[in-house]
Amino acid sequence: MHKAPIVLAVDTPELVTAIEWVKATQDYVSVYKLGLEFFLTFGSDGVKAIKDVTNSDIFLDLKLHDIPHTVSGAAKAVSHLKPRFLTVHASGGSAMIKAAVDALPTTHVTGVTILTSLSEADVADIGFRDNALSSAVGLSKIAVGAGAGAIVCSPLEIAAIRAAVGAGPIIITPGVRPADSTVTDDQVRTMTPKAAIATGANFVVIGRPITQSWSLGAAAMRDRAAQIASELI
Ligand code: C5P
Repeated sequence: MHKAPIVLAVDTPELVTAIEWVKATQDYVSVYKLGLEFFLTFGSDGVKAIKDVTNSDIFLDLKLHDIPHTVSGAAKAVSHLKPRFLTVHASGGSAMIKAAVDALPTTHVTGVTILTSLSEADVADIGFRDNALSSAVGLSKIAVGAGAGAIVCSPLEIAAIRAAVGAGPIIITPGVRPADSTVTDDQVRTMTPKAAIATGANFVVIGRPITQSWSLGAAAMRDRAAQIASELI
C-alpha cells in the first residue's frame, strides 16, 4: 500500500520499543521523526538501528541553533545518516541555515518557525516585533531564502506560509489530532490531519494518537496507523 504523508514521532526512551513501533507502522508511515531525547540517548547507532528495519525516511529533529560554523559541523556529523529532514531553528538566521544547507546538500534542511508551545505573550517577551503568525511567516521566508527545503509550523499557519513561500517548500505540521482522538495532551490549537493536508501541509507529524495504542499491542498500533492513513490517501 502507498504510505500516507505521516511523520510518526518516535517519542520513547526505549530503543527496543522504538524499533517495534517502526515495524508495526511502516506500511503506512512515510517518515520517522527521531528527536533530541532519542539522539542524545542512542546516538547514530540508534538511528542506524531504526534505518535497518524500515525503508521509510528519517526526520532528525535536532532543532539546531548556534553560530553557522558550529551548525555546519553538527550537520556534517550526521550526514552519514542521510536523514531526509534535519531541523534547525529558523531564528538562527540566514547564514546559520545556509551553513546547514551547504553541509547537507541531499537533506531537506527544515526551518522550525515559532514553537507551538509559545503563547503570544511569550513571543512578545522574547522580543519578536510581530505576532506568532506574522513571525512564523517571516521566519519561513528567511529559511526558504537561505535554501531550506522544508518548514515546520503550526497547522494554523499553513495557509499564510504557503502563500508566502510558494508551492516548492515542504510544509510539515505537528499539533494535529484525528477527529476521533481521545488524546488531547498538551496540544491545544489543533486541526485534524485531513484538514492540515487539505490546507496545504505536505506532511503531518503524529505522535501519541498512534503510539498510545501500543499499550494494546502491535496489531492495534498497526490498525490505528492504517485508519489514520486511510483518511489521508
Ligand atoms: O502530541 P504528539 O504526540 O502528536 O506530538 C508529536 C510531536 O509533535 C512531538 O514529537 C513534538 O516534537 C511535536 N510537538 C510540537 N509542538 C507541540 C507539541 C508537540 O511540535 N506543541
